[in-house]
Amino acid sequence: MSPHPSPNPTSPASASAPATIPILRAGATRRPVRLTINGTERTLLLEPRASLLDALREGAGLTGTKKGCDHGQCGACTVHLDGQRALACLTLAVQAEGREITTIEGLAETAADPEADPVLHAVQRAFIDRDAFQCGYCTPGQIMSAVACIREGRTGSDDEIREAMSGNLCRCGAYPHIVAAVRQAAEELA
Ligand code: FES
Ligand code: FES
Repeated sequence: MSPHPSPNPTSPASASAPATIPILRAGATRRPVRLTINGTERTLLLEPRASLLDALREGAGLTGTKKGCDHGQCGACTVHLDGQRALACLTLAVQAEGREITTIEGLAETAADPEADPVLHAVQRAFIDRDAFQCGYCTPGQIMSAVACIREGRTGSDDEIREAMSGNLCRCGAYPHIVAAVRQAAEELA
């Protein structure tokens, strides 16, 4: 089996648009959920069944984390929970209480000069340098996975990178550039 599966255009995940689960339905039971997102504590009123993905996108307005399949198959929703990769579509928001959530919006560092742009993470810079995206929809998830892969030391060879990144699909087929970007960032961060 290929260590780097390609998206299957006939799979249920890609054949139909993901159902949007409203997290603020009228009359639905809600409870306050305290989430620490990118170092900031937020309290959101959510249904207990709300996924972390919906909480981030619809509750916190952080739309950098993407909804692809909403079924744990594409990796577009990858975030970090306490520094580990997690699929936000398969994680209930309540499961993330008391944990550090990092999204793509939290990766760049704020510049010392408040007027200046944030300082991009080495992986973000490498994706730009290596042209590692086309439409960009998968890119936030790819970058969050790549940061974790590098941290896990799973970047010893291109094959190892492909294996470690195999949970993140790219319908545009930018894989060779993504591997090059991960390799570049890993070398820079070594
Ligand atoms: Fe596809 Fe979460 S949206 S794995
Ligand atoms: Fe378009 Fe990956 S899905 S760049």
